[in-house]
Amino acid sequence: MNSSAHNMTRRRLLQTAAAGSFLGPALIQGAEAPGSGFAAASTSGSLRAGFAIDDVRVRLYSPQVTEPVKLVMLADTHLFRDDERGAPFREYSGRMAKAYNQTKHFRTLQPTQPEACFEETIQTAQKEHAAAALLVGDIVSFPSEAAIEWVQSRLAPLNVPWRYTAGNHDWHYEGLPGTSADLRKEWSEKRLLPLHQGANPLMSALDVGGVRVVMLDNSTYEILPEQLAFFKAQVATGKPLVLMVHIPLYAPGRPVGFGCGHPAWGAKVDKGFTIERRPPWRQEGHTAVTLEFHREVFAAPNLLGVFAGHTHKASLDVLHGIPQIVAGANATGAHLIIEVLYPPTV
Ligand SMILES: [Fe+2]
Repeated sequence: MNSSAHNMTRRRLLQTAAAGSFLGPALIQGAEAPGSGFAAASTSGSLRAGFAIDDVRVRLYSPQVTEPVKLVMLADTHLFRDDERGAPFREYSGRMAKAYNQTKHFRTLQPTQPEACFEETIQTAQKEHAAAALLVGDIVSFPSEAAIEWVQSRLAPLNVPWRYTAGNHDWHYEGLPGTSADLRKEWSEKRLLPLHQGANPLMSALDVGGVRVVMLDNSTYEILPEQLAFFKAQVATGKPLVLMVHIPLYAPGRPVGFGCGHPAWGAKVDKGFTIERRPPWRQEGHTAVTLEFHREVFAAPNLLGVFAGHTHKASLDVLHGIPQIVAGANATGAHLIIEVLYPPTV
């Protein structure tokens, strides 16, 4: 895309976003600057006052945010380090252990690999003085103790708080029997707990400055009733929210990879279960709870944005004025630097 076409596309996106941002019921009056055009957004009830994307940098504007907040988000590192403790599981880890041994750096296109990319992103979080680093699933390709310990060792000296939510590979040894929900529970407890640092693995929230970061595990593609209730409670606080989920939420025109809430999701369209050696997706499609969650997310007046991974492809959708931004795979070094800012007055 040439630069003028790119600018036009971006302008259109911003116009769409700005138009959408004025929708939604009244909730909270934000901090207002007299005479500011953006103050109108807060008086009309929305905490959203547009957004912008430049490469990996995302700016979310909200009249409710008086102090800028900066977050670094990454997903899909697909670390595969393993040692003799993983030997009994080789039958279940073999395919994914080979999947991302060498990658191409998302910027330089030179050969690299997931550990180097993860370290580079962690350094970025440090250099950017991020208020938090958010690890949004598929950090490992299977729940190897060696890989999880390596992640902990790299994060321990980090001068930035970090939070984690799981992806569908983090807890999956391919071919082990059990439902996705049961396997997630089992391997979260056996291996992933240190990454959760005491937080509930299924749902947690973190206040960073004036922004509440909501981490929800949708790595089975489904949302549980307690997660829906948790999300509604976060919306009810009226605080500016950002939502982190591994699997993107359905957006019109997207394939079932944007599978959380996709109307066609279900066993009939599941092409991956044989190769991933897992049970097929649910015969009847999504649960009513998952579909309700999807509706609630894109009706939330104080939700500034949804961030996800899983597809390994950077993308943007805007639903009811709410941007959903998918990060490229951190296995290639991709990540997002998210700033939440008071809207500019000029
Ligand atoms: Fe994934």
